Amino acid sequence: MTQRRVLTGITTTGTPHLGNYVGAIRPAIAASQDPQVEGFFFLADYHALIKCQAPERVHQSTLEIAATWLAAGLDVSKVHFYRQSDIPEIPELTWILGCAAAKGLLNRAHAYKAAGDANRERGEDEDAGVTMGLFSYPVLMAADILIFGANEVPVGRDQVQHIEMARDMAQRVNHLYGGNADPLLVLPEAVVDDSMATLPGLDGRKMSKSYDNTIPLWLTSRQLKKAIGSIVTNSLEPGEPKDPDSAHLFQIYSAFANKAQREEMAGELRGGLGWGAAKAKVYQQIDAELAPARERYFDLIAHPQRIEQALLDGAERVRPIGRERLSRLRHAVGLRPLTAKASEKKATKASKSKPPRFVSYSEGGQFNFKFTAGSGELLAIGAGFASPAEAGQAIKQFRQRGADPANWVQDHAEWSLHSAEQQPLATALVPTEQIIDALAELQ
Ligand code: TRP
Repeated sequence: MTQRRVLTGITTTGTPHLGNYVGAIRPAIAASQDPQVEGFFFLADYHALIKCQAPERVHQSTLEIAATWLAAGLDVSKVHFYRQSDIPEIPELTWILGCAAAKGLLNRAHAYKAAGDANRERGEDEDAGVTMGLFSYPVLMAADILIFGANEVPVGRDQVQHIEMARDMAQRVNHLYGGNADPLLVLPEAVVDDSMATLPGLDGRKMSKSYDNTIPLWLTSRQLKKAIGSIVTNSLEPGEPKDPDSAHLFQIYSAFANKAQREEMAGELRGGLGWGAAKAKVYQQIDAELAPARERYFDLIAHPQRIEQALLDGAERVRPIGRERLSRLRHAVGLRPLTAKASEKKATKASKSKPPRFVSYSEGGQFNFKFTAGSGELLAIGAGFASPAEAGQAIKQFRQRGADPANWVQDHAEWSLHSAEQQPLATALVPTEQIIDALAELQ
């Protein structure tokens, strides 16, 4: 059985809160128990330096986040759990990727663009306060993913662009240096779960540090009770019927309750349960789930050497995987011992054992297609269509129009193709000549 490699990074700034637990930590730990999955969980502490130049905070947050994952039940005998800065292969790969990535690609990264936009709005120089770290953030993130050949990266919507950039960079490297047989770098897929729970915070907006409405995950039992007491409710009195669906207190409860418990609580609220009594139940429910983990958490925090050892062991186990990939890549790019034989020629494009092909798929209610080379390299991706028939039509037009270089137009750093009616058909993921060659092979 081949396992899928699923990789998740957690930036070590901040203190974990209930929203992180419900939305990310608990589901990730559950998913890591799937025997089909080889899990990679790491503390992205190099990424922390991009946002945070307070050393004590980075250090403290790394400790807290590591302890959180361990206390919440991550089984380090089954998954790889490590700290980014313990893996020197990551920054090394970052450099090699950076030398293949187009600056124009990175100009489009949201995080960097947002900083420039904010500066312009304030009338400042657009680069004010923008570090090279922020600019090349997606390259470091790509290295995190590509060094271990991850197949899937579960992320929030805001991170999808970074995974696509990682794909782009991998493709570029494979194209520049790879033979046809075994690609140097594996192309990762972003996995976005839109049903992923977001927990409301004290004021009903999404629980988030930036709204200052969080309930920290590791409060003492008393502090937790107090925090739940400060969740905002409406002013209905005990005895008055309450609508559970509009009460964020009920949503918070729901994230910790099973179906029967949810129905019971909903019924009680409709029957006039007072907010104070409801909060007492919410507190008991959450406290019961967190209490055993909380004990482990405080025990770990009191023994940082245990956490440190777990991380060092994790790094030692995972590094050989990265080292092997990096050493192939170093060789491929020409960083070789001087005694190495002039290389066997890279497997040429002549090995056309398989023809290029179109692959149809559906995603998020849309229908789409990919155009891939015989080697599996992704060449172009469709624009997304409302029905399978429209996607089929788009493939047809793509085959005709895509063969003519004049039909490809540049849109920012991307090349795209439109139908005769000017509807978007597809975006190129490699230089368009490569697509035109592949289409020619299909004639
Ligand atoms: N940038 C991610 C975030 O802010 C964290 C991260 C760093 C990450 N490297 C990664 C996530 C690699 C997934 C894969 O959420």
